[in-house]
Amino acid sequence: MREFNEHNITEAVLERYQNTPDPRLKQIMYSLVRHLHDFVRDVEPTFEEWSNAIAYLTRTGKMCSDTRQEFILLSDTLGVSMLVDVLNHRVPKGATETTVLGPFYVQNPPDLPLGADISQGVEGQPLYIEGSVSADGRPVANAEIDVWHSDSEGFYDVQRPELQEANLRARFHSDSGGRFHFWTIMPTMYPIPTDGPVGEMLEATARHPYRPAHVHFMISAEGCESLTTHVFVKDGPYLDSDAVFAVKESLIREFEQEPPGTAPDGRKMDVPWRRLRFDFGLTQRAQSAPAA
Ligand code: BEZ
Ligand code: FE
Repeated sequence: MREFNEHNITEAVLERYQNTPDPRLKQIMYSLVRHLHDFVRDVEPTFEEWSNAIAYLTRTGKMCSDTRQEFILLSDTLGVSMLVDVLNHRVPKGATETTVLGPFYVQNPPDLPLGADISQGVEGQPLYIEGSVSADGRPVANAEIDVWHSDSEGFYDVQRPELQEANLRARFHSDSGGRFHFWTIMPTMYPIPTDGPVGEMLEATARHPYRPAHVHFMISAEGCESLTTHVFVKDGPYLDSDAVFAVKESLIREFEQEPPGTAPDGRKMDVPWRRLRFDFGLTQRAQSAPAA
C-alpha cells in the first residue's frame, strides 16, 4: 500500500509490526500505535502544537541527569506511575498497600540500630515511630526497613547541598519479633520539583504541585516481595489532591500528639512529641514449583 490517508494509515503502520518476533513487544507496539493515532485524530493538532509537543519532550529529556528524572516526574503527575503501581500490586488481604517510590530515595542509606534518632538535631517536632513487619500473620525478623522523609520545611536532605551527611533517612532491621522503633521529626507537605517542564505543565493547567506530609518506607525480607510505600499524616492538607495521586486510605494514620514525659523507650521528653504506629504486612513470594 502506498496511498495513505487518515482512514487507512493506522492499519498500514500496524502491518509493519506484524513480523515482530517477541509477542509482548508486538502487543505493545500495536496498542501504542492504535492509541497514539486515535489521540491525534481526536486532538487534530496544528503543526505548531505538534512542534511544541516535540520541544516539550526534548526539554524533559534534557532535564534528566543522574540525580533528576523529569520523565518519571511527568509520569507521576499524569497518574501513570500510580496506574502502573496499582496494576502490578493487587496485594492480598493483610498486606500493606504500595505507592510511588519518588525521586528522593538514596541507595544504601546509613544502617542504624533500632532506637536511633535519624534527625541528627535538625529542627522539628520529635516523632517516635514504632511498628512491626509480618507476612501471612507471622513476624518477619531481620527485615530491611529503609525510611526517608522531608524536614519541617519540606526539603529532603538531597535538596540541601549544604548537608555533608544523610539526614532523615536510614536503614533499620526488625528484631526477632519483627518489631522496630526509631526517632525522627515530623515531616511536612512539600511541592514536587517545579523548575522544569513538569512545573510548566502544572502551571499551564492551573494545578498545584503539593504532596501531603508523609514518611517513605521500603521494606524487604527474604522470601517476600519488597514493599515500597508511604505513611501519610492524617488531617494534613493535600490528602485529597496529591500532585502525584499516591494517597491510599489504608496508608493514612494519626500521628498521635503526646505531652512531655517519658517516651516508650525511656527517653525523657521535655516538649510535646508525636507518635506513629504502623504494622506492615509483606506479601510472601510465590514458591516456584520443585523441579520434576
Ligand atoms: C516523593 O514523595 O518523594 C515524591 C514522589 C513523586 C514525585 C515527587 C516526589
Ligand atoms: Fe516524599
